[in-house]
Amino acid sequence: DKIYYNGNIIKREDAKVDIEDRGYQFADGVYEVVAFYQGEPFTLEEHMERLVFSAGEIDIETPSAETLIKEAKNYMQETGYADRNAKLYVQVSRGVASRSHAYPDGLEPVIIMKAGPLNPNPEEYFQEGVKIITLPDERWSRCYIKSIALLPNILAKKKAKQADAYEAVMSRDGFITEGSSSNIFIVEDDTIITPPATNYILNGITRQTVIDRLAPELGYEVIEESIPYYTLLKAEQVFLTGTTTEIMPVVQINDKVVGDGKVGAETKEIFKAFRELTG
Ligand code: PDD
Repeated sequence: DKIYYNGNIIKREDAKVDIEDRGYQFADGVYEVVAFYQGEPFTLEEHMERLVFSAGEIDIETPSAETLIKEAKNYMQETGYADRNAKLYVQVSRGVASRSHAYPDGLEPVIIMKAGPLNPNPEEYFQEGVKIITLPDERWSRCYIKSIALLPNILAKKKAKQADAYEAVMSRDGFITEGSSSNIFIVEDDTIITPPATNYILNGITRQTVIDRLAPELGYEVIEESIPYYTLLKAEQVFLTGTTTEIMPVVQINDKVVGDGKVGAETKEIFKAFRELTG
C-alpha cells in the first residue's frame, strides 16, 4: 500500500501522524472522497475545487485545485488502482503545532491521500431499495464545509446500522437536511425535490450531478426547496446520493414503507443514467 504524503509517495508503514497534528487533536481539517471507475476519476475537478473551498472557509491555504488534481492522478497511477474501481481519500489538516486552540499563522498543511477499493454497495440495494432512519440534526451550522470533524455523522450512521438501516437522515427545526454521508431527494407528483444547498448541508457532487446533468438529460426539473419532515414521511419516492452511495433508492423510513415499497420509475431512471455515466 502506498500513501501520498505532502508531495511524496511513501509506504503505508512509513506514513505517520504527528501527535500534535491539529487534524488529530482538534479535527482541524477538511477532506474529500473521490470515486474512480475503471481507473477513470469521476468528477475529480469538482471534488478538488470543493476541497480548496472547504480549506479556505477555515483559513487553511492549500495548493491550487489544478495542482491537487495532477498529484491525485499521479498518485493513483503509482498505486495498484490505476485501472480499477477505486476510492481516493484526500485529507488536509492545518498542520503540526504545540497544542493550543488558537492556531499559529503560517503552518504547513499536512496533505495525505489514500487509495482503496471502491467497495460498492450490494447490487440488491440498488435494485430493491434500502431502509433509512430519521434523527435530529445535531451538527454545527457550517455543514457546507467538508470538515473531518464527523462525530455527529458517525454516531448517526452507527444508529442506522443498529436499526438495520442503510443511512440516518437528519432534520433540523422540522426540515430534513441530509444523510450522515449522503444527500436526499424525494419525488412527489413527478417532481423531484431536494433541500437547497444552504449552510446546513454539504452540497454533494453527486447531488449536483443529478441536478445539473442527469435530471435535465431525462427531462426532469429538480426543485431545490426545504422539505418538511412530514413531507418526507409521505413521499412517494425517496433516494439518496453520494460518492459511495451513488444513487440509492429508499423504500422504508423507520417503520414506514415508502410508496408501494418498490423502487419508483423516476428513481430507476436516474439510477440507470448514473450507471451509464460511470460505467
Ligand atoms: N461523504 N453529505 C455529507 C454529510 C457527506 O459526508 C457526503 C459525502 C455527501 C455526499 O457528497 P458527494 O456526493 O460529494 O460525495 C453529503 C463522503 C462520501 C464520505 O464522508 O465518505
